[in-house]
Amino acid sequence: MMIESKNKKELMREIKDEVLNLTESPLYEYRKQNNYFPVIGEGNHNAKIMFIGEAPGLNEAKTGRPFCGSAGKILDELLENVGIKREDVYIGNILKDRPQQNRDPLPAEIEIYGPFLNRQINIIQPKIIATLGRYSMDYIMRKFELETEFLPIGQMHGKVFDAKTEYGDIKIVILYHPAVAIYNNKTKDTLKEDFLILKDFI
Ligand code: URA
Repeated sequence: MMIESKNKKELMREIKDEVLNLTESPLYEYRKQNNYFPVIGEGNHNAKIMFIGEAPGLNEAKTGRPFCGSAGKILDELLENVGIKREDVYIGNILKDRPQQNRDPLPAEIEIYGPFLNRQINIIQPKIIATLGRYSMDYIMRKFELETEFLPIGQMHGKVFDAKTEYGDIKIVILYHPAVAIYNNKTKDTLKEDFLILKDFI
């Protein structure tokens, strides 16, 4: 079903309002104590490609914007390398609040924040979901009942899977998390190569 742009904006705002008041989240108090912002996501509500990361880091929690720190710089570079403009895609995370000291997300946190991501996918209706990192891969593969295909991310990155949604067939592209490339040029080269897959879809 098509959703009008105006309606999409309203639906996203509802998500933002709900997350702002998500007192039942184990990360709510931590956000408040540190005057952090929740990070809902950013980009084109009609994007063909939606990138999904793990959780906001410090820079993201301070600004409310996804991928605006060092991992974000790598992501920008990777996008530029394949001629994709950041404003043409949508970038979000599974968790909308920063976990303490950037620790890995806990299952209970994924359970609380996952439904917001599911709603965002249904609002944006992307043709391609690009997962960034192991947690995002895990979440999306399970969501689309592809867990039988599961392998460690080292064997999954660069693969494309077909999935069915309420709004039609989509592709899932598995990518490493850009943060892995901050100090590892080899992974950066792999990421650059894997990002070329996205070129076929634009
Ligand atoms: N890492 C993520 O997974 N998401 C962000 O928004 C920033 C860093």
